[in-house]
Amino acid sequence: MQFQSYCAACHAPEAQEADAAPPLEGSPWVTGEAGRLIKIVLHGVRGPIEVQGKIYDREMPGFGQVLSDTDVAALLSFVRKRFGGLSEPITPAAVSRVRAANAGRVDYWSVQELLAEP
Ligand code: HEC
Repeated sequence: MQFQSYCAACHAPEAQEADAAPPLEGSPWVTGEAGRLIKIVLHGVRGPIEVQGKIYDREMPGFGQVLSDTDVAALLSFVRKRFGGLSEPITPAAVSRVRAANAGRVDYWSVQELLAEP
């Protein structure tokens, strides 16, 4: 399953005990604007980022080179449902739009950038 292959190494609850990455469970980045979540997975994100009252200042790599729009859509639909309780899926078309709008992007996103544009 894709979450296990691509995300769990850092975001599984066991990994979090070692302080590897912020939690997805209850995170506003998971339940918030879908475009931001798509950007994080396509291009990566760097801290500082606040999740549930704790500041993380690390880096997450992007997966845009290895995952197709369909992969990202399926993965994020799972993540939103599993960790955010949201049943509305993220579509491949939505991923495709975000990918196209940021075609030249190589750098990780900063929180300021993610919050600046919807
Ligand atoms: C190599 C470790 C690693 C992998 C693999 C990884 N992440 Fe992350 N992720 C991080 C780190 C570290 C941060 C916090 C970065 C920072 O400090 O800015 C983060 C932040 C996030 C955030 C925003 C903060 C939060 O907790 O809500 C989301 C959402 C997220 N990752 C989702 C994913 C998804 C989905 C995958 C699988 C495609 C994934 N990550 C794979 C390390 C990873």
